[in-house]
Amino acid sequence: MHPGTLPISMIRMDTSFDVRLCENSAINQVDFNNIAFGKVFSDHVFVMDYLDGEWQKGSIEPYGPMSMSPASMVFHYGQAIFEGMKAYRQQDGNASLFRPGDNIKRFNLSAVRMSMPEVPADIFMQALVELVGIDNQWVPSKDDASLYIRPFMFATDSHVGVRASHSYRFMIFTCPVGAYYSKAVRVKVETEYTRAAMGGTGAAKAAGNYAGSLYPTKLAGEQGYDQLLWTDASSHKFIEECGTMNAAFVVAGKLLVPATSDTILDGVTRKSAIQLAKDLGITVEERAISVLELEEAAKAGTLTEAFGLGTAATVSVMCTIGFKNCDFDLPSFDTWTVAPQIKTTLENLRRGYSEDPYGWNIPV
Ligand SMILES: Cc1ncc(COP(=O)(O)O)c(C=O)c1O
Repeated sequence: MHPGTLPISMIRMDTSFDVRLCENSAINQVDFNNIAFGKVFSDHVFVMDYLDGEWQKGSIEPYGPMSMSPASMVFHYGQAIFEGMKAYRQQDGNASLFRPGDNIKRFNLSAVRMSMPEVPADIFMQALVELVGIDNQWVPSKDDASLYIRPFMFATDSHVGVRASHSYRFMIFTCPVGAYYSKAVRVKVETEYTRAAMGGTGAAKAAGNYAGSLYPTKLAGEQGYDQLLWTDASSHKFIEECGTMNAAFVVAGKLLVPATSDTILDGVTRKSAIQLAKDLGITVEERAISVLELEEAAKAGTLTEAFGLGTAATVSVMCTIGFKNCDFDLPSFDTWTVAPQIKTTLENLRRGYSEDPYGWNIPV
């Protein structure tokens, strides 16, 4: 079995959800040539509750508002996790999910870390397949567009007092999206605030991690930067992530990627890019990367590319890195070779323009 893909036999075909279809699809109101990221939602959602120690029967319902108690524990103690993944329109017209098994695995690691129940992988996979199947028309066909899929889970006990909730809701909605970041980003090496510390929740996709990153990002924005390059919590000497993406650099022709740890999210794009880069004959080093090493490489002219890797943007190009005492402008994107090759190879594979040697595409 290829890593991260569930064998079809693990997809429990007898799983049947209640399905209530919407009366009027909103699809005709969408301009598929001009989709704002994360603002347009497909017709249906998947909903499944965890009550009395077990998952109840899931359902697919029309997308819309839901009512919740003001005392729902998620609002107070923050038990909330999510995932981000995509379905792509294939060259042959079918839609397929990209490495969904990896997202399911990571979701359940997040669940364990946040003391929440795991969602059985077979039910999760079936929910993805059925939901995207029902809203198949919402998977865009333009080459830079895709269907973003957002599974998430939150605590639903109405209760005041810190403890793990006993009840939860698991949901999935989807939204058609175009390109994410259109312009190259100016990033600042953050040496005061911290995204994640050893023993913390940085390796989980816990909602609170993102809330904590907003204020330092806002401060960086006031200084003229678009994003932060997070560093380790104890010394602030080592690069960890780039905003909400994994970071990657090309120094002296080698692709350098911070090794994953307790404080770094194990990105699906990151591991796909590493595999494809190796296949392309690029030397890859997954290890600790110090700020000093990058700064010296910048001065020596050997730091030639810097980019973020993530589902939303795939490859997000950095144009400037703000070190403590100086801004370093990267060479113009036209001269880059590694990031464009990775992006093109990954996109071709995801859309069925090229071979899928690792079985990463799962047809819906
Ligand atoms: C903090 C963080 N790092 C990295 C990533 C990239 O992960 P992936 O490639 O699985 O989207 C994400 C996005 O999910 C993220 O939120």
